[in-house]
Amino acid sequence: MCGIVGYVGKNNNSLHVLIEGLKSLEYRGYDSAGVAINDNGKIKIIKSEGNISKLENKLNMDIKSNLGIGHTRWATHGKPCENNSHPHRVGKITLVHNGIIENYEKIKKYLIDCGYIFKTDTDTEIACALIDKIYNETNDKLLTMKKANEIIEGSFAFGIIFDDDMENIYTMRKDSPLIIALGENENYIASDVPAILKFTNKYILLEKDEYAIINEKEVKVYDNNLKEIEKQVNTYEGSMEVAMKNGYEHFMLKEINDEPKVILDTYKQFVNNDLSEIIDNMPDLSKYDNIDIVACGSAYHAGLVGKSLIEEYANIPVNVELASEYRYKKNFCNEKTLTILVSQSGETADTLAALRKAKNSNTDTLGIINVVSSSIARESDNVLYIKAGAEISVATTKAYSAQVLMLSLIAINKSIINGNISKDEAKDLLKDLKKLPDDIAGIIDRKEEFDKVAEQIYDNDDVFFLGRGIDYALSMEGSLKLKEISYIHSEAYAAGELKHGTISLIETKTPVIAIVTDDKIDEKTVSNIKEVKARGADVTLITTEELNKKYDKSDFYDRKIVVPSTNRFFQPLLTILPLQLLSYEVAKLRGESIDQPRNLAKSVTVE
Ligand code: AGP
Ligand code: GLU
Repeated sequence: MCGIVGYVGKNNNSLHVLIEGLKSLEYRGYDSAGVAINDNGKIKIIKSEGNISKLENKLNMDIKSNLGIGHTRWATHGKPCENNSHPHRVGKITLVHNGIIENYEKIKKYLIDCGYIFKTDTDTEIACALIDKIYNETNDKLLTMKKANEIIEGSFAFGIIFDDDMENIYTMRKDSPLIIALGENENYIASDVPAILKFTNKYILLEKDEYAIINEKEVKVYDNNLKEIEKQVNTYEGSMEVAMKNGYEHFMLKEINDEPKVILDTYKQFVNNDLSEIIDNMPDLSKYDNIDIVACGSAYHAGLVGKSLIEEYANIPVNVELASEYRYKKNFCNEKTLTILVSQSGETADTLAALRKAKNSNTDTLGIINVVSSSIARESDNVLYIKAGAEISVATTKAYSAQVLMLSLIAINKSIINGNISKDEAKDLLKDLKKLPDDIAGIIDRKEEFDKVAEQIYDNDDVFFLGRGIDYALSMEGSLKLKEISYIHSEAYAAGELKHGTISLIETKTPVIAIVTDDKIDEKTVSNIKEVKARGADVTLITTEELNKKYDKSDFYDRKIVVPSTNRFFQPLLTILPLQLLSYEVAKLRGESIDQPRNLAKSVTVE
C-alpha cells in the first residue's frame, strides 16, 4: 500500500526516475501522488489527487535535478486530496511516509505548544515537524532520525530530504518495507523492487530500526546504535516483463491465464519430475494436532477451503481466523498448534501482527507466501512459497488459487502422516495433479461461455452466491471477487442458512449463483436452490461433470456451468475459475477499472 521512490544521481534525472518508479508501484493502490525535487538548491513540491498521469500533467519534465523523493498515498489520516498528499514539508524537512503514526495526536499537541502550525490533516505532517524540531536541537541528522524513531509509535518508512543537504537522501523504517537500490553513479530508495527494475536490479533490504544515508556514490546503513553496518546486496533475477500484461487487456485476465503454470510451478516443489513420487519438501507436520489459519480477504477464503480439506482428511481441528480479529482476541494455541499465515504480499499489516502474536504465544508458525523475502516470509518459523510470480491486479486470482493448492497439499501431507491416505491413494492423487494444469487451461478456454452468463447478471444491483461446505468457502471468494471489481452488492450464504433471514431479499429475477460440487451434500444444497427458484430467483448453477449426470435435465436452474470432475482436494481449483472469469467480465461490461478498483490497495500495509 502506498509507494515511496527516491533518487539521487549524477544524471540529474530525478523527475523521470520518480515518475517511472511511481508508475511501477501503481499496482499497490493509491489515491494521490506527489514528488519533491532539488530545483537549483530549493525544494520544489508538486502534488496531485488521483493518478500519476494527473501529476505528470503538472510537471515540467525538462527540469534537471540530482535528487528527489516521490510518493503514492493511500490515505489513512485525512481525506485523499492534494493538500494531504505527500511529500510534506515543515521547516527544513521534506518527507514521504508509508504507514501510520499512532501517537500523532500527542506529538501534535506538543508541537503546537512549541509553535508549529499544521496545514494538513495527516499524521505524516506531524512526523515531518517532529524531525524538524529535533534537527533544530541536535543539528545531527542521524541522531535526529534515531530520536524521532524513539518517539514515534506505529508503522513507518520515511524518505527524507534536509534543506541543508541536497546531496543525500535520508531514510529509516520500522514496520513498513523499504529497499535501497544501487546504480552507477546513482542510487535509489523504494517501497518495492518493481519501482527500480528499469534502472537496476541490485538492492539492499533496509530492516526495522535501521537508518541510511544515500548519495550518488555511496550508501551508508546504520543500526539502532548508529553504528555503520555492512548490508548484503541482493540481485533481483525476475524481469520487468513478468510484471507486464503480455498482450492481455487487463492484468487480472493475464493473471487468470497464468494459473495453469502457477499451479504447476507450485506443486512441482513437492513431486518428482514424472509425478510418480511425492518429495518430502514440507516442514514436518507430524507433531501438530490442531491448526490455526490466519489471513485476510481472499487469503482467508483460501484458508476456509484448507480447513474443509484438512479436517475431513487429516482428521484434526482447524480454526480459520481473520488476522484483524486474531490479533486482538484470546487464542487457544499450544505447542501442538501450527499457526499458518497465508498472504500473497507477505506485508499485510494485520497478518504480520497476527504472526508476531502467534510467535509470542510460542506456537510454531508457517507462512504461505508469494513475495519472496517479504516481512511475513522472513519472520515466520517456516515458509512455503506459492509460485504465483508478480500479481499486479488488486483482485487476486492466481495467488488465491496457488494458496488453495498449497493448503490442499498440506492436507494431503498431514493425511498421509495421520494414516488416513494410503500410498496407493496418494498415487491416484498424483495422477489427478498431473492433469490439473490442462484442466485449468481447458476451463479458461471456455471464457466466452462465461461471458454470456456475465451478460445475464451485470446489470443487477445484488447477486447472491450459495453453497455448502467447501462450496460455501468458494462462494465467499466468488462473491468478494464480484463485489470488489464490479461494485455490485453481493453476499455469499451457506445454502442452508438463507431461510433464516436473507431469503426475504430474493425477488423475481434476483441473480443467484449456486455452487454444487460436493457429492456428499449435493441434494441438500439442491433443496435450498429450489427454495430460491420458487421465489423467482434467476439461478446459475456451477457443478461438476459427475454431478451434472444427476442434474442434467433438472429445472431448478436457468443455466449451468459444468467443470471437469477431479478428486476433492483439487476440485476447488477448477470450480473457482468460472467465478473469477465471471467477475472479470461483469466488471468489464460495467466499464469499471478492473485492475485498480476504487478504495482498494494491493498490499494493505496499514491496520
Ligand atoms: C482480494 O482480491 C484482495 N486483494 C484482498 O482480499 C487480499 O486477498 C487481502 O488483502 C490479503 O492480501 P495478502 O494475501 O497480500 O495478505
Ligand atoms: N498515514 C499517511 C497518510 O495518511 C501515509 C499513508 C500511506 O502509507 O500512504 O497520509
